[in-house]
Amino acid sequence: MNVPLSSPEITQEDIKEVMDVLKSGRLSIGPRIEEFERLIAKYVGVKYAIGVNSGTSALHLILRSLEIGEGDLVITTPFSFVASSNVMLFEKALPIFADIDPNTLNLSPKAVNEVIENLRKGKMSAGKINVDPSKLRAILVVDVFGQPADWDEFEKIAEENGLELIEDSCEAIGAEYKGRKVGTFGSAGAFAFYPNKQITTGEGGVIVTNDEKIHILSRSMRNQGRGEGDEWLTHSRLGYNYRLDEMSAALGVSQLRRLDAILRKREKVAQIYNELLSNVKGIETPYISPATTKMSWFVYVVKLDKNIDRDKVMEYLKENGIQTRPYFLAIHLQKFYRETFGYSEGYFPVTEDVSKRTLALPFFNNISREAQEYVVEKLKEAIEKFCR
Ligand SMILES: Cc1ncc(COP(=O)(O)O)c(C=O)c1O
Repeated sequence: MNVPLSSPEITQEDIKEVMDVLKSGRLSIGPRIEEFERLIAKYVGVKYAIGVNSGTSALHLILRSLEIGEGDLVITTPFSFVASSNVMLFEKALPIFADIDPNTLNLSPKAVNEVIENLRKGKMSAGKINVDPSKLRAILVVDVFGQPADWDEFEKIAEENGLELIEDSCEAIGAEYKGRKVGTFGSAGAFAFYPNKQITTGEGGVIVTNDEKIHILSRSMRNQGRGEGDEWLTHSRLGYNYRLDEMSAALGVSQLRRLDAILRKREKVAQIYNELLSNVKGIETPYISPATTKMSWFVYVVKLDKNIDRDKVMEYLKENGIQTRPYFLAIHLQKFYRETFGYSEGYFPVTEDVSKRTLALPFFNNISREAQEYVVEKLKEAIEKFCR
């Protein structure tokens, strides 16, 4: 049996919506992006949504709208997709990593407080690069794997220290923290719609915010810096082409209509894995915090015991047609970060330990129970074989 890691759910209705755009001839800057933005803003419960061509673009425009620039410091997690830190480097700002909570795998508020304290004492650097502590500007928090971070704590820390709070919810659309939807914390949030996400636009992302300045600036910058009153060939500020096209927006509208049903399906898939894995030795199933009143399952990630050889497990599963992935490899240990900042093992022990042991299993809306049973059966075999 072949079981892919993920698979987008594309219905006849989705296809019709995209075909209608193609037939209309209006392929960019049209009514569908406006509709998508209106529906996202309503769903999340914010004033503004700005559609862009990726989650990375969304985060980049948030940083630029907050005027985070050269030498500025942004505290963030090393356990994430690399884009959440890369966007700082686009602007010559510096990510200052803090370690994660070993259970939720989200940024640890305690670790963030320690970093702030060390910065104030002049004891903190970005790897081997010296930093100016007076340039601490923001905290960028990621809702990892669809689970909200500890937002009460981060709001408190941001307020006490006069910092901007940025929400990377690229993996978490629809998730709720103590009854409140992600995307509503901090100055602005980002969602992403790559085909492995809960809903997809092909490539795409969106900024959500209640801040009018972020709304105006990011809307202008996604469109080559054209401002209010600008013509096609006049540009008020530096901008990019980060626009989301009409086909993608129409697919987004169609997918968004069934987001709640999709999240229910994914919850069921997760519960089946929890059940099938409940008595499997050597495996830890995902931890859900009591503050997570609604989980938006992005991936299903288990932790293997330290004495299990993950590479061999992955290889064995691959030989049996099962695709898995070691979500995430620590950002500070990526080649580019090692070379630029001089990072090596030992800087963030929790992240490093977790990232050696995590394994994302095949997970998508319409995976069959049979396929899940097959994955678990082969996983059990692999664990027995490759337990050191
Ligand atoms: C946490 C996180 N941040 C940012 C991104 C970037 O989104 P995109 O791939 O749409 O640029 C992703 C996407 O995978 C992500 O998981």
